[in-house]
Amino acid sequence: MNSVNDIRGQFLDFFGSRQHELPGSSSLVPQDDPTLLFTNAGMVQFKNYFTGAAKPPYPRAATSQKCVRAGGKHNDLDNVGYTARHLTFFEMLGNFSFGDYFKDGAIEAAWTLITKDMGLAKSKLLVTVYHDDDEAAALWKKIAGLNDDKIIRIATADNFWSMGDTGPCGPCSEIFIDRGDHIWGGPPGSPEQDGDRFLEFWNLVFMQYEQFSDGRSREKLPKPSIDTGMGLERIACVMQGVDSVFETDLFKTLIAASEELTKTKAEGERAPSHNVIADHLRSSCFLIADGVSPSNEGRGYVLRRIMRRAMRHAHILGAKEPLMHRLAPTLIAEMGDAYPELKRAQPVIEAQLREEEERFRRTLANGLKLLEEEIGGLKGGQKLSGRTAFKLYDTFGFPLDLTQDILRGRSLEVDVAQYDAAMQEQRDQGAASWKGADGADNPAIWHSILERTKGNAFLGYGAEAGDGAVTAIVSGGAEQHELHEGATGALVFDSTPFYAESGGQSGDQGVIKFASGAEFVVEDTQKQVGALHAHVGRLVKGAVKVGDKAALEIDHERRAKIRSNHSATHLLHAALRNVLGPHVSQKGSLVEADYFRFDFSHGQAMTADEISRVEDEVNAVIRQNTEGVIKEMAPAKAIEEGALALFGEKYGDTVRVLRLGDALSHTGKAYSVELCGGTHVKRTGDIAVFAITGEGGVASGVRRIEGATGAAALAHLKAQAGLAKAIASNIKAPLAEVTERVSQLADERRRLERELADTKKKLALAGGGGGQSAPAGPESVAGVSVLARVLEGVPAKELRGLVDEGKKSIGSGVVAYVGVEDGKAALAIGVTDDLKGKVNAVDLVKAGVAAVGGQGGGGRPDMAQGGGPNGGEAAKALEAIRAALQGALAA
Ligand code: ALA
Repeated sequence: MNSVNDIRGQFLDFFGSRQHELPGSSSLVPQDDPTLLFTNAGMVQFKNYFTGAAKPPYPRAATSQKCVRAGGKHNDLDNVGYTARHLTFFEMLGNFSFGDYFKDGAIEAAWTLITKDMGLAKSKLLVTVYHDDDEAAALWKKIAGLNDDKIIRIATADNFWSMGDTGPCGPCSEIFIDRGDHIWGGPPGSPEQDGDRFLEFWNLVFMQYEQFSDGRSREKLPKPSIDTGMGLERIACVMQGVDSVFETDLFKTLIAASEELTKTKAEGERAPSHNVIADHLRSSCFLIADGVSPSNEGRGYVLRRIMRRAMRHAHILGAKEPLMHRLAPTLIAEMGDAYPELKRAQPVIEAQLREEEERFRRTLANGLKLLEEEIGGLKGGQKLSGRTAFKLYDTFGFPLDLTQDILRGRSLEVDVAQYDAAMQEQRDQGAASWKGADGADNPAIWHSILERTKGNAFLGYGAEAGDGAVTAIVSGGAEQHELHEGATGALVFDSTPFYAESGGQSGDQGVIKFASGAEFVVEDTQKQVGALHAHVGRLVKGAVKVGDKAALEIDHERRAKIRSNHSATHLLHAALRNVLGPHVSQKGSLVEADYFRFDFSHGQAMTADEISRVEDEVNAVIRQNTEGVIKEMAPAKAIEEGALALFGEKYGDTVRVLRLGDALSHTGKAYSVELCGGTHVKRTGDIAVFAITGEGGVASGVRRIEGATGAAALAHLKAQAGLAKAIASNIKAPLAEVTERVSQLADERRRLERELADTKKKLALAGGGGGQSAPAGPESVAGVSVLARVLEGVPAKELRGLVDEGKKSIGSGVVAYVGVEDGKAALAIGVTDDLKGKVNAVDLVKAGVAAVGGQGGGGRPDMAQGGGPNGGEAAKALEAIRAALQGALAA
């Protein structure tokens, strides 16, 4: 009992039994809310219910919400690892009232839960209220019996909560626990309040106002509401009797895993590193599961900062290999039941953690070395130069807060103003922008290089590493003689194993190491003026000039994935022609490491059966595991041998012809024969698995397939199987019966909808259902009997039949029904045959239609229909019809 998972359950059960809806956590990426970086509180998903912009579907709710506070208004990143209570990712337990109960209800519930159900000692509890909130102070006294000295008035923003710079807000009341004088700190409002002795664990916000950005002051909310937030990790600390969140059961498990993998103990100066790793692991995994990937801007950059900070601490602990992805399974085992999105995203989480750590490891050690040197040169009280911090950022990928984190341990600071100035300078120069730097936008440079160097040799069909000498350097949009450490640009060599992007195949990445010790990281390889391999990237170490010799080595794993995907597109092409017909021809493709795209001519969407047959064929050829055969020959000869030429590609004197697999018809022919300049698998079995992950249209007559091979394909298939299992467990059916049960549920739903419509109709005719009160029977207008009703919730298409029934039931007279649905009015009027000539239904409908803001209306003298937008005026429509009838009868 009292594990983090138990406490989460206890909280939700408590409020569930008090008629609170339990809708579950929303995503960490706020939906439709550009004002907010990450979901930072439980109330975020309910924001529009508080402001009145949307109608809440229930008056009360309770959740355990995933929150990230790193960057933006609520930012705890810098404190993590160094205090006992700060986290970048945490779970916020909250109960919410949308105009239902207010201060007294919130205080009573909180007090009952913590003192009765959770059993916290009253004598250790104290609360704060906003300085002028006499009402809350009085309620704490009355409900909890707290003395005045335990109700502390605070005048600062600490006791006025707002989600961001705009949005709902209000005064709040925080509940604290005194954890004893063995911990340093003082009560809220005292000079020692920042210590950990008095722990705030639950914040009750009395939502009363909405703050606007346009200078309008705060406005009162339509209905005062309640928003509370209790940090799950903090209450777990209290319940488990430990001093720090990092000692709670969940964190202990995570920290044990990092201890095991790093073979170090979380003690002494190593403890903060383990803490940071555990916390940042949680925020990284949850963010990735919600679709954020590390990048250089916005949310992606915050994620990158968190990841790199953790990776630096892994380095401190002596981890020689990427660590974070190996910790992810422990986290997912702990939290995956409460948050199944973690399980679904597991392969993506592990891949992204690993890739980011590998990327960062390439520059981390050199960056740290530079930093150590600079620190060594600092005199007492001196700050680290902002230029050094900028260089660490720009060249070595150290986010500023990472550098600050390193310095913090030694009580040093960065000259942040100088750092900002260096950043601005770089922005102003503009020329260093990635594209401009490699001269890609200036073909004249490349023509002149080609003329001078006569091109370069490409070794990459046979080799993945090789030696070469620099023949040209392009940087800042011009040819250079030299490149300096930290600069970005493009290098050309006399020979290279790096494949340059062409034929849809992505360019190689890798590392170039110079005899001088200099090191260039290749992010991409582009083909310039059809012949030159431009290695685009950054010089992370040393200096380079034309003529320098180097060892060039591509990223082998990435190339292997690309090879598989590229060969798979050839098999796919052949399979599509077999399954769909010979009209299929390739219109374009993109081959990356993690996925591929293949566009082809075909007039309609593929059926599920066609997709499955294509997958089966390709996988069958993969299992043949035959050798791929590549031969060079004249283009004409290749076409003669039945090769399919690639889309849009220009060919030289000789072309490469690739044969893959054996024809399934056992004719002895190859399964696929194509011209191709790309790189391919040795045997089809190297591809392992092939899966189509998407099919859709891109232009008229052109379809696009997206797919994956190998581990990525397997991950996709696993995720799909997981989905089916999740549905099965949701509807509590055995997996094998899922399809049948889902269609039963759909039938059931249709039947219930029909029943509901019938019931609504009956209810409306009986005068109930929230409609205007209706007379029991027909009324009399100038001696004619009239059945006039507003029928709430009855759709237009039902009215005609109802009017006919009405006519039968009164025998002689007028039936006028106004159906109101979705705020709109539909009218139907019937006149019995004996009144023909005296009363015209069309005239009556026109009168009624005008009253509901519509136009026209028509039909026959005995039955007419019409409608209008103002359902709220339905009763007026009946009045207008009665008046028109009176007029007609008087005439
Ligand atoms: N929204 C309030 C908070 O985050 C409960 O503290």
